[in-house]
Amino acid sequence: MHIIFATQNQNKVFEIQNQVGKEHAIESLLDLNYLDELEETQETLEGNALQKARFVYQKFGKACFSDDTGLEVELINGEPGVYSARYGGPEKSFEKNMDLVLSKLEGIDNRKAQFRTAIAFIDERGKEHLFEGICKGEILKEKIGDGGFGYDPIFRPDGFQETFAQLSLEIKNKISHRGLAVSKLVEFLKA
Ligand code: IMP
Repeated sequence: MHIIFATQNQNKVFEIQNQVGKEHAIESLLDLNYLDELEETQETLEGNALQKARFVYQKFGKACFSDDTGLEVELINGEPGVYSARYGGPEKSFEKNMDLVLSKLEGIDNRKAQFRTAIAFIDERGKEHLFEGICKGEILKEKIGDGGFGYDPIFRPDGFQETFAQLSLEIKNKISHRGLAVSKLVEFLKA
């Protein structure tokens, strides 16, 4: 089956194609020559994932899915959450986003946080399915490591000494929010 992934990020497509295997061909919006940014105006990760998947399903009429991820910090009521990409300002700077989280947690001991990914899949007949992946951990007091992206340098997953920015991509994909949500989608597609 051909499945559209409602993203223009070819790295994500590559990773997911790897997990899905040969049975399904994952096409990105770039493969379909769709270059406009998709709207994400909802107040939850699930809402945004559904909004993007519904748009693509209506436009192309094929099975498709979309993902949305947020960092949820316990002590600041789940912020930055759905606003993770632009938490520190509209320019979407990873540095500014991390600086704002660090400043909000200054002098605070409870640094529990989790990354959460919601995936919305719409099958050929238009039925909607939601999948969730969570990775729990804590926010450090400073940035450590050069790998990854986003909030990786300030997030240490439970059970590890390293931040996401220090772990190999292979390990990160195995334990990460997105990796877990994708595994659930892959299991569903295989069933
Ligand atoms: P998206 O929904 O995958 O585009 O993610 C939204 C925002 O969450 C990104 O712009 C990043 O700031 C953050 N984010 C998502 N996934 C990760 C991750 O694996 N590590 C660190 N930050 C992430």
